[in-house]
Order: sequence, then structure tokens, then C-alpha cells
Amino acid sequence: MSKKIKKIGVMTSGGDAPGMNAAIRSVARTCAFHGIECVGIYRGYEGMMEGDFKDLSARTVKGIINKGGTVLKSARSQEFRTKDGREKAYKALNAKGIDALVTIGGDGTFTGALIFNQEYNFPVMGIPGTIDNDIFGTSHTLGYDTALNTVVESIDKIRDTASSHNRLFFVEVMGRDVGHIALNVGIGAGAEEILIPEEDLGLERLLESLRRSKKSGKSSSIVVVAEGDKIGKNVFELKDYVEENMTEYEVRVSVLGHMQRGGAPSCFDRVLASRMGVKAVESLMEGQSNFMVGLLNDKIALTPLEKAVKGKSQINKELIRVSDIMTT
Ligand code: F6P
Repeated sequence: MSKKIKKIGVMTSGGDAPGMNAAIRSVARTCAFHGIECVGIYRGYEGMMEGDFKDLSARTVKGIINKGGTVLKSARSQEFRTKDGREKAYKALNAKGIDALVTIGGDGTFTGALIFNQEYNFPVMGIPGTIDNDIFGTSHTLGYDTALNTVVESIDKIRDTASSHNRLFFVEVMGRDVGHIALNVGIGAGAEEILIPEEDLGLERLLESLRRSKKSGKSSSIVVVAEGDKIGKNVFELKDYVEENMTEYEVRVSVLGHMQRGGAPSCFDRVLASRMGVKAVESLMEGQSNFMVGLLNDKIALTPLEKAVKGKSQINKELIRVSDIMTT
């Protein structure tokens, strides 16, 4: 019979994402609901090793559901990758009386949690928090929906000036090495072309597509480029390449960058975070460990952490077909 959980630690790690605060709030409130204690761990594994903790009650997490970023801060920790670092963390958690962990982050965060569990048999539960949506075992990671809306709004603004000046814009978006953000915002913002790592369009086909757009009477164009795209040229080199090969185009570049990670979380992300926090805490209370909480067919479901870390999120082929048709 597993030990009764009395005090749960919650932390955020890796790239921050809108919705992380809503998840922290949900973990704290679910603990309070069940009469168990909750402790916030600052700066991910870095703060865990230093014992940088703060007691969280149902009241201390008020007013954060609508805030982007993470009140517990985030950090990437090299030291936690070492056995000594993990021993420091284990001692700090023990000293505080923390007997289970909810880690909110991406695959790197979960890998650390898995190793920690294997070394110390410490109960861990993962909540996927990253705008990239690149984690196996969930249709949505926290922050993804918010980022899609943030980026579509930004591209709508870029289109205003593109059409005013009859320009072609290359817009680079985040997503690390997957194209979920680029593909969805490309369709949502009506981009003339979308470059994603999962599909190598090739330079010639890009020029053909732009020539087709021009011939069809389009005076301005938007090409959305995933930062992990593999066409072999970055957005600035693409600008030069198109200007050299298609003098009829005046080309500009916009790299959206870290603003894609900010902003108030969407209602979808707030609700998802709340659902995931409840499931994470109640699963730990039931004696479960080494799972990631995910959304599958709109149901909250558990995926073994090992599979979440090793699995690959697949690009939606139906969306690729839709984008091909929409760019006719
Ligand atoms: O993983 C989220 C993410 O925003 C990626 O889309 C991006 O490539 C990366 O983080 C940027 O990392 P950093 O914040 O360390 O520059």
C-alpha cells in the first residue's frame, strides 16, 4: 500500500507558457479541497535543490488564473542532471516534508522527474506546459491555444501593412522543431504559404507558389515559417533569395519571438489547466505516479511519463491538405 500523500510540491520548468499559473492554482486548490498541504517550488529544479519553497493555500493562488508566465518562475538546471544535484533536491524536499511532486513543463522537465522517481521512488505527476504542443499523449499542451490566438492576431496586423505596401512578408513563428503553431496560424491567418519542418516544400516550389499568388492577382502575401523549418534558409536568407529571383516582390521579415509565450491565457487554456491540476493531485492521492495528465478526445487521461517523453507528436495531415486547398 503506497504511503498516504500529505504534502504536494508543484513547480514549473522549461519555457514558460500561458496557463501555467492556472495549473498552479488548480493544484493548490485541489490540495486544499482534499485537506492536504501544497508547496510552491520556485525556479524549477534549480529552486528545488536550494529549498526555495513557498507554502500555497487556496487563498495565496488567488488572482493568477488570468496571468501569463509563471508566478513560480522557471529555470533550466544543469546541476539537476547530476546525481549530486538530485540528492540535494531530495534532501530539500524531505526537509520540507514534501512527499509528492507535480511538474509542469515539457519533455525535459518530465525526463528529470522520471530519473528522480527512479532514484528515490518519489511520486511524480507531469502536466504538459509548453506553447509548442510537441508532447505525446495530449492533443493540447498548456499555452498552445493562447499562442495560436496571439500569433494569428499578430499576423492579421502584419497583413494590414503588407497589403498597404503590396509586400511579401516572411513571418517566423516558434514551435522549436515541430510545425503545429505554424500550420494552424497559417490556415487561421490565410497565409499564402506555410513552411513547416514536417514537410520540405523546397525553394523551387516556394517560388512557384509565390508566382501563382502574383498571377492570381494577389498584391501582397504572407508566408508563415516555423522556426524549425528545414528549407535550408532562415527567413532573412529567404527574403534575399526571393528578391533575387522575383524582382516583382518587395519583401520584409517579421520574427515574432518571445511575445508568443506571453499574454493572458485563453479560456480554453484556463479550463484545461484547471482540469489537469485536479487530475494530477487526485492521481497522486490514489497512489499513482510516473504519469502525464493529457487531453485525449476531450477527456482528461493519463499517459505513462516514459511514453510521453519518448513519443513524438504527429503533424495533422488533414490540416496540411486543408492548407494546400486554402492556398489555391
Ligand atoms: O519551448 C518553447 C519555446 O518557446 C520554443 O518554441 C522556442 O524555440 C524556445 O522555447 C525558446 O527557448 P528560450 O526561451 O530558452 O529562448
